[in-house]
Order: sequence, then C-alpha cells, then structure tokens
Amino acid sequence: MPFKTIEEAGDLSGKRALVRVDWNVPIENGEVRDDFRIKQSQKTISFLKEKGAKVILITHLEPETLSVEPLRKYLPEGVELLENLRQNPGEKENSPEFAKELAEKGDVYVNEAFSASHRKHASIIGVPKLLPSFAGLQFAEEVQQLSKAFAPAHPFLFILGGAKFETKIPLIKNFIDSADSIFVGGALAHNFFKEQGVDIKQSLVSEGEFELSSLIQSGKIMLPADPLWKDEKIKDAGPETIALLETKIKDSKFILWNGPLGNYEEGFKEGTLAVAKLLSECNAEVIVGGADTLAAIKELNLFDSFSFVSTGGGAMLDFLANKTLPGIEALG
Ligand code: 3PG
Repeated sequence: MPFKTIEEAGDLSGKRALVRVDWNVPIENGEVRDDFRIKQSQKTISFLKEKGAKVILITHLEPETLSVEPLRKYLPEGVELLENLRQNPGEKENSPEFAKELAEKGDVYVNEAFSASHRKHASIIGVPKLLPSFAGLQFAEEVQQLSKAFAPAHPFLFILGGAKFETKIPLIKNFIDSADSIFVGGALAHNFFKEQGVDIKQSLVSEGEFELSSLIQSGKIMLPADPLWKDEKIKDAGPETIALLETKIKDSKFILWNGPLGNYEEGFKEGTLAVAKLLSECNAEVIVGGADTLAAIKELNLFDSFSFVSTGGGAMLDFLANKTLPGIEALG
C-alpha cells in the first residue's frame, strides 16, 4: 500500500485524531435515509478510541448549506463532529488557510473518506501535508479490494451501467484488454447502439466522439438484448438481457459492477434488481459500488451477500480508471 494505516500509527494515547469521514448521506426531513457509509467508518472510530485517541470527525454534506445535526445520533460517547466542511468555501478551494485551521484541531490526520478522495479539497489533500497522516481501516480495505480489478481472476465480467458516458468510457477502454466481457447497460448503452446504427429515437445519449468501433470490434462488449421502451426512450433492460447475463455471471470468477441497468431514479428498477439478485447468489468474487447500485442492494437487503461493497461512487470509478486518487497520493 502506498500509505500507512492507523494500525501503523504507533502510540495514539492522548492524541487528537482528526478523522475525515464521508458522512455525506441522504437526509430527508432531518432523518438519515441510508447510513451505510456511517456504519462502515465505525471500525476506525472504535479502533482509535481503544488506542486512547480523542476522535474529532470532519465531513462534508450536500447540499453545502446542510448542518451535520441529524448525524449526531451516530456519535459514540466522547467523539466530536465538526460542522459541514463545505460551509467554508476554503474546503472546495483547498485554501491553505482552511487546511491550517483544520490541522490545528488534530495531532494526527486520518482519511476514512475513500468515497470523497477523488476531490482535491482541503480536508482531503491539504490537511495531510500538515499532520502525520494515516488511512482508516475502510479506506485501506477499499484500496485493497478494488485493486483486485487490476489483477483479476478469469473469466472477469465487468458490468457498467448508469449515465455520464464521458466519465465511464475511459473505464471501458482501460478494462477492454483485461476483462473477458464488459456488459454496458443503462444510458451508457445508447451510445453503443447509435454507433451500431440502431435507431434509439429520443433515448439519452452523450454528445462527443468516443471511438467506439474498436471496442465493439473486440467482441467483448455485451449490450442489452431487449431494451424496454417508454415514450420513444429506452428505460431498462428486459428479461432476455437478464437471462443472457445470468449465463455470463454463472461462468465468471470475478465480477465488478457499478451503475444501474435502467433509469433507476425514475423507477425503472427491474433490470438492476434482477442483476443484484443474480450477483448475490453466484459463486464469483463480486465487487460492487455506486449510489444507485447500492440503493438496489439496500432495497433487497443484500448488503452481506457480496465479496465487497464499496462506499465509493465517483471515487470508485476514478480509482478504477487511474489506479489512484488525490486522497491516496496525499497520504503517501
Ligand atoms: C459522494 O457522495 O459521492 C461523495 O460524498 C462525494 O460527494 P461530492 O460528489 O459532492 O463531492
């Protein structure tokens, strides 16, 4: 690992540990709707407390006007939580003054916010320049587990869905050699259909030149076989697609999944839920992540049925694309 973890931090007794967590969780009417990220950071908090450190948590929340008040019920005794970092513009600007202000609150810095570590913000890359810095336990596990995708067992199936084609196409290009198959679902598939000359009518596409023909020619790209349409738009993948994926999943030894197969937010969830279920039951090593992907897993109560569930959305994708993140580099 290119960093030290808190297990290598030495004597922490009496020290103030400034811990960057990512408790940017959905909050509605003052209530936390999904506490997965909060739970995943508890092992680091317990570890530091057991070592006699005084734990001070820092997190951002979106929208940036939100207060951390609804998060306080998750605090063990003696653990402090500072106000939403993004209420200070210095956080996003990575201002040296704000980094210094934060660093003065701790004797050591811990990054337990893998899912925010693609951001070059003060609490991610500024503070570790100023304090002895360590990775939290979940952070280290994220790096270790996601790195398996760089030396995967075969057959390796990569399932990539969702939208934001321009952020995901680099991933497809990165993995086209090492993956045995890449299933492209969700709105991402529409650009491939268009490239193949399929009439996608009003379906969402990303504009730009993405050089998809060589990817298609590799023979490794799988697209939805029976897209489901509504109002001239593709909205989900149908049962034939799921049956084809089922065969692939059964044949695979390593599977990486990020992103829904349909327009999840509008309620077109069936394809995504079916894949979540198939993956939870298969024998392959399965690593999953991404906001809508996790929403499907939560809906089916399947959190314990995968080899690893990443807390990262954008951070997971950036790590897979670049093999590192600004927050990892800052700990080095
Ligand atoms: C996330 O929710 O993906 C992380 O907390 C990062 O949040 P951001 O996209 O607002 O930086």
